[in-house]
Amino acid sequence: MKNRKNKDYVYFFDTTLRDGEQCPGASMTEDEKVAVAHQLAALKIDIIEAGFPVSSPVQFSAVERISKEVSGPVIAALARAVRGDIESAHKALLPAKKKRIHTFIATSEIHMKHKLGKTPAEVMKMAVNAVKMAREFVADVEFSAEDATRSDLVFLTEIVHAVIEAGATTINIPDTVGYTTPKEYAHFFDTLVSKTDPDGNIIFSAHCHNDLGLATANSLTALQHGARQVESTINGIGERAGNTAMEEVIMAIKTRPENFPFQTGINTRQIMKTSRLVSHVSGLPVQPNKAIVGANAFAHESGIHQDGMIKNRLTYEIMTPESVGLEGSRLVLGRHSGRAGFSEKVKELGYKLNKEEMEKTYQKFLDLADRKKELYEEDVAVLLQDETAVSSDDMFKLAYFHISSGSTMIPTATVKIENLKKGTESEVHQGAETGDGPISALFRAIEKATGLETRLVHYQITPISDGKDALGEARVGLRIDNQIYYGKGTSTDIVEASARGFLDAVNKHVATVSKKIKDGV
Ligand code: KIV
Ligand code: ZN
Repeated sequence: MKNRKNKDYVYFFDTTLRDGEQCPGASMTEDEKVAVAHQLAALKIDIIEAGFPVSSPVQFSAVERISKEVSGPVIAALARAVRGDIESAHKALLPAKKKRIHTFIATSEIHMKHKLGKTPAEVMKMAVNAVKMAREFVADVEFSAEDATRSDLVFLTEIVHAVIEAGATTINIPDTVGYTTPKEYAHFFDTLVSKTDPDGNIIFSAHCHNDLGLATANSLTALQHGARQVESTINGIGERAGNTAMEEVIMAIKTRPENFPFQTGINTRQIMKTSRLVSHVSGLPVQPNKAIVGANAFAHESGIHQDGMIKNRLTYEIMTPESVGLEGSRLVLGRHSGRAGFSEKVKELGYKLNKEEMEKTYQKFLDLADRKKELYEEDVAVLLQDETAVSSDDMFKLAYFHISSGSTMIPTATVKIENLKKGTESEVHQGAETGDGPISALFRAIEKATGLETRLVHYQITPISDGKDALGEARVGLRIDNQIYYGKGTSTDIVEASARGFLDAVNKHVATVSKKIKDGV
């Protein structure tokens, strides 16, 4: 495997599609798993554990497809220490360019006695045979001692020694039930590495569950004590309290190199994209205060924090949002926000207010913040629009629209827009466009008809009454000429509501431009 000679290189082994998928409610379709695997390859994960092929035909097929379609990372498949599992893993992995069989058996007394009904000698024999069998098929074999951290360390050392002799190339020491602590886990790695691999030919691996909230700390400690592979999942999804969150370990290594002097191949700028994809396909939302990928991870609300951030980001930011693929830290505005935070947001939205206008809008903002707990960019933009816009003599109005869309055709939209100009006859513009979906076709057609260049920054549909014929409200945010405008449209037809919302935002722009012309700005 590449970089194996580099003793400081840490391999990232992603088990989102295997251990992560075992979490209640997180089942993904085969297409979704393949999409996640492609994204993991873009993140430059070293090894993707694609599934447990013998467990079901669905699992087998997903591992086979990922092996066929995803290149870059090593593709791994899980197998218990029995022939049927190992053969199934081998078959599913056949199309993969780089492959690994990951075989495991429990080594703790409680698991051996009550779950397997086997003696330590029998378990030892099964482990050695399994590794030998897997080596008949592939050169890259990982052995995991399930429930390692509750196993007798003398027995664990013997079994690790024996499976290395049998041909295992990676040894995984799972904290299966999230029971261990950093000091204890460190002792496991110190002992196993020094007693079974004094020459450093084997990759030792940490695999932690988060039952006590210690998974990231334990994984990082393992790296400080000889481990060179971390098994983790995106967003920390997994059985019970989940697995180690990949994004936490990688960002700890990146942010504190003096404590974790390791190299990795990870492209951290792909973290947010991967996190959002996994959350979307698994249906598991990310808690807002989740480290690295939570919605609030880079948000600063209190006035003191916002003021500090504006003066120097290092005051409250230990890593940049850009380093994980976010565009910028979100200044959430609320009643604690000071003038500095507010005026920064005004600038960010592209508005230039004089001192008087700024003060007036800030007072309105405080009023609103008293009523609403948290204010979003959109709320501030609406306040600013009210402050700066005048009723315009020039505006666009929807005359009609047609949409054709379906699962076997390219979505197409045609629109007719009237441009009403006071004192003159209105002009009529038409536009037709295609898009990825009916709304994107519609927005492109309107953009063409109005002749304006816009960038969609916000789009949201909300039902505003009950029942099948409920009214839907579309909120559309557009960046036009470097300024952001928000519009609203309502209709029982959400496509029509969207068109109206789009034109409302365009009209806010037109009104602002007319005001500037009138004011001679
Ligand atoms: O937690 C665990 O022990 C596992 C093994 C199968 C590696 O997931
Ligand atoms: Zn696990």
